[in-house]
Amino acid sequence: MPQATYHFPRGFLWGTATAAHQVEGNNTNNQWWKWEQDGHTNGTSGLACDWWGGRWREDFDRAVEGRQNAHRLSVEWSRIQPTPDTWDEDALERYRSMLRGLHERGITPMVTLHHFTDPLWLYERDGWETEDVVPAFEKFVRKTVDALKEYCTLWCTINEPNIYATYGYIVGDFPARHRGWKAAMTVMVNMFRGHAAAYRAIHEIQKEARVGYALHYRPMVAHNKWSPLDNLTRSIQYSGVNLAFPSAISTGIMKWPLGNVRVPEAKGTQDFLGLNYYSVDTVKFDITNYKEVFGRRYYPENSDLSDTKFIANIPEGIFDSIKWAVRTYPDLPIIITENGVEDVNDHLRPRYLAQHVHQMWRAVNFNWPVKGYFHWSLVDNFEWERGWTQRFGLWALDEKTQKRTKRPSADLYAEMCKENGLSSEMVQKYCPEVFDKLFPV
Ligand code: BGC
Repeated sequence: MPQATYHFPRGFLWGTATAAHQVEGNNTNNQWWKWEQDGHTNGTSGLACDWWGGRWREDFDRAVEGRQNAHRLSVEWSRIQPTPDTWDEDALERYRSMLRGLHERGITPMVTLHHFTDPLWLYERDGWETEDVVPAFEKFVRKTVDALKEYCTLWCTINEPNIYATYGYIVGDFPARHRGWKAAMTVMVNMFRGHAAAYRAIHEIQKEARVGYALHYRPMVAHNKWSPLDNLTRSIQYSGVNLAFPSAISTGIMKWPLGNVRVPEAKGTQDFLGLNYYSVDTVKFDITNYKEVFGRRYYPENSDLSDTKFIANIPEGIFDSIKWAVRTYPDLPIIITENGVEDVNDHLRPRYLAQHVHQMWRAVNFNWPVKGYFHWSLVDNFEWERGWTQRFGLWALDEKTQKRTKRPSADLYAEMCKENGLSSEMVQKYCPEVFDKLFPV
């Protein structure tokens, strides 16, 4: 049996990622809470992982036990600015103590400023559909970054603007005031403006800041590579989902069928690219699915699927995503800001994790500038419209008793973080079924 270790460069960030609404609990003042109370989700976030009640301490201890050296978390706008004219200094102090808690544990924080939730007061004024959101977001960012700058230099302005806009304004799984293509595009444009304003504000406040956003990058393949219709719908969906934001940042122009929007000051506003990678879609032309420009996305039948078939284990996709990023922005540092799988019994997660880290290692060995990896997630948390039906944690959570139970993947990941790499022994111990794929003779 071959013995080897795939090593990563010194200083590589190994962490987990979370988001405020998914872990804090009792986030009653944002649009998601309302959406949950109105019955649109599979269960409600409730106490979530009770981080607001202080359980972040024990979970950060778990991250330390798991040898992680970084953690990505988000702050909740509606807590920091509960009304347009008030700041909650206690909330800011609580975030300061969380970040201090990370530092004390030797963990580097990355803070996301917007992860899907908006204060209710903003949402009731149509949120990201109106340009007024841009100065409002900038004001919130200035206040927050100024309060937290002592503890953080790595900032993610907005998480997955593409998913926020499409799931809310087109698909309808996320809350949105007015649905439709036009609204979705307006939201994307305002998020683009908001990101640029935040980027500049953060750099004004903190010289050493490194600022980016997190893109949900979704590789796509045509169902039948000879079919012009499959190829056409694939390419429309691919550019809509993946390219709008990145190409706007490259050029300062967001291109839409309804007309281009120029935001020259947004050009080049990123110090790193955050990549969230989960899976690859196959796209088939479907005349009935007008909402998604006549394309249907699915996983082929023989895919290695997660519990609820939400994710297919396609590790080459993370390599392809990194390759796309390097070609799009040569030399820009890349951070995998999310990658993970829902798997209550931890049957699939060990191989998903090992195979994805192996593909990331391949990319690193081309000297592509991948600087860190944040696994989604540290502990099971509230999965948006899917509620508690999906379990992404290295640690399982019983949300009723708040009891945490370690999954084997937590130990596998701890070994990787400690070793700064992936070894044949780890694969043999946790996921021998893919040993030959990862260590071929
Ligand atoms: C989101 C996370 C979410 C994860 C798994 C990502 O798109 O940023 O908030 O939990 O997917 O569904």
